[in-house]
Amino acid sequence: MPQTWMITGANRGIGLALTIELVRRGEHVIAAARDPWGGALSEIAAAHVGAVTPLELDVTSDASVAAAKTALAGRPIDVLLNNAGIYGSRERQSAFDMDFDGWREVFEVNVYAPLRIAQAFLPNVEASTGRKIATISSRMGSIGGNPSGNIAYRSSKAAVNMAMVAFGNAVKDSAISVLLFHPGWVQTDMGGGGADIAPSESASGLIRTIDASGMAQTNSFRTWKGETIPW
Ligand SMILES: NC(=O)c1ccc[n+]([C@@H]2O[C@H](COP(=O)([O-])OP(=O)(O)OC[C@H]3O[C@@H](n4cnc5c(N)ncnc54)[C@H](OP(=O)(O)O)[C@@H]3O)[C@@H](O)[C@H]2O)c1
Repeated sequence: MPQTWMITGANRGIGLALTIELVRRGEHVIAAARDPWGGALSEIAAAHVGAVTPLELDVTSDASVAAAKTALAGRPIDVLLNNAGIYGSRERQSAFDMDFDGWREVFEVNVYAPLRIAQAFLPNVEASTGRKIATISSRMGSIGGNPSGNIAYRSSKAAVNMAMVAFGNAVKDSAISVLLFHPGWVQTDMGGGGADIAPSESASGLIRTIDASGMAQTNSFRTWKGETIPW
């Protein structure tokens, strides 16, 4: 019996790689994106009708999330995966020069949206047997990792870790596991061509680790390979 995974930002990068890997092994994917009808995602959806449900979703928009919630009402989601994210200004997020409007935007996508998505689709996860909510954070959000630079991005990932752990504690009694991941340094538009690993390697590692996770791992912060990261 195929599982249903919902992935935000499924049109490129790690989200697209997750979609490809999951469809390859026979799962159903709700592939959410601001534009799910163009590019590689539309080709995958056309090649796997029934297995891929393209869903228009801007994770920062209450109206867009409400419309998606209505469209998915009553459909169980085994794994809800918050993947959409942005990095913010490449030049202006240092200790001495911050683009504050850009910082707010980074928080909209990387912090507020994962909680908004978790709240909106909680009934779908509750209706499933998988009962997992995973969020792609980043090792750059580790305060214990002695951070410097990239303050907007780093603080957003530290904040989403806190938000999702608090959410995880709130849904513990419903046996829903809440998981936080660093996906590796991945060759995507965000990670750049010089990054360590291909999106497919990150995606298959994440899927393997999520498969092996349950309530014993709730509120953990780990790499795509399952190694614990200090908060
Ligand atoms: N790549 C790395 O090395 C790395 C390392 C650590 C963590 N991460 C995290 O991994 C996740 C995926 O990153 P990536 O490398 O795949 O990045 P990416 O290639 O830049 O893709 C980002 C994805 O997020 C989507 N997105 C951005 N804003 C959105 C919004 N408002 N609503 C819906 N979707 C939105 C983008 O959609 P559009 O095409 O519509 O813009 C795109 O699908 C992010 O959370 C990132 O912070 C990445």
